[in-house]
Amino acid sequence: KRPAGAPNKALARQVTTVGVVGAGLMASQLALLFVRRLEVPVVLTDLDAERVERGVQYVHGEVDKLLSKGRVSPDAANRLKALVTGSTDKSVFADADFVIEAVFEEMKVKQQVFSELETVVSAECVLATNTSALSVTEMAAGLRHPERVVGFHFFNPVAVLPLVEVVRAERTDDATLATALAVGKTLKKSCVLVKDAPAFVVNRVLTRLMGEVTAAADAGTPLDVADNALAPLGLPMSPFVLLQLVGPAVALHVADTLHDAFPARFGVSENLRRLVAAGKPGIWSWDQQGKPYLDDDTAAL
Ligand code: 3HC
Repeated sequence: KRPAGAPNKALARQVTTVGVVGAGLMASQLALLFVRRLEVPVVLTDLDAERVERGVQYVHGEVDKLLSKGRVSPDAANRLKALVTGSTDKSVFADADFVIEAVFEEMKVKQQVFSELETVVSAECVLATNTSALSVTEMAAGLRHPERVVGFHFFNPVAVLPLVEVVRAERTDDATLATALAVGKTLKKSCVLVKDAPAFVVNRVLTRLMGEVTAAADAGTPLDVADNALAPLGLPMSPFVLLQLVGPAVALHVADTLHDAFPARFGVSENLRRLVAAGKPGIWSWDQQGKPYLDDDTAAL
């Protein structure tokens, strides 16, 4: 089903080469998805060769898992692996028709990435951002071609969750949007078109939910109560496990962005802030069964 407000799909441009900027948690999952579904060359870049190599190895490892599950043939697995390459040099994006960035959630960093990309890619290449919460309009401001910038927001784990929020920024043109939606369809994702607003739609809801659960925990409600009380809602996983999956730093970034935009509506858990500042892997820990418990170490934070 085409999302409401979608432009004429005849405007979509062909995508025969994809670039992914970043080789971290989301970026390497994106590279895997693009290569698997589009079956076109995918080039991955990051700041240093080690990160790039880790990203490429992640994709190779996941393709091997698909092979061992019988989801791809040995020939297809070899073909997919050969389609993924990495580099530290953005000039490898010269032939790309669609480049998505999934770098650190910092406006200046993302603006810098896009302005560097503009010097390399063709004028028609789509520049997509996987930002969780930042303004796509602001990210595109100052570029020579802001009309080819679009938000393309995936959810972790990328291979499993079906949704992509496609964000129309102020200057995004219909050809860019149509191309992004066509790509989304080939990726077998359900795309929704959303307005460029802080944290779009899904992360607002998730942040509200996590905010209330962490606030209850911060106020002294035992974690298992806060956690199990939500099970009847049919959530696929505990909010605390989800927090760990998303990454506390990303969750905090989204919460801060929403708090800045709507201070009365969104609070930020002080425990979450302390945890991220301390660089701890988790304010909450989980036992072998995945049950959360409060890590004693956090008392010292
Ligand atoms: N990465 C890749 N694949 C994964 C995975 C992961 N982290 N976790 C599970 N999977 C795959 C498994 O391999 C399995 O695939 P298969 O059927 O092909 O073998 C399939 O998912 C099902 O796995 P399981 O049976 O082990 O697990 P569940 O059925 O319990 O599902 C889950 C796991 C899909 C993670 C589910 O618990 C879930 O949907 N959780 C909610 C996740 C969520 O809400 N994410 C959104 C976070 S917000 C976000 O990302 C936005 C950002 O901007 C902050």
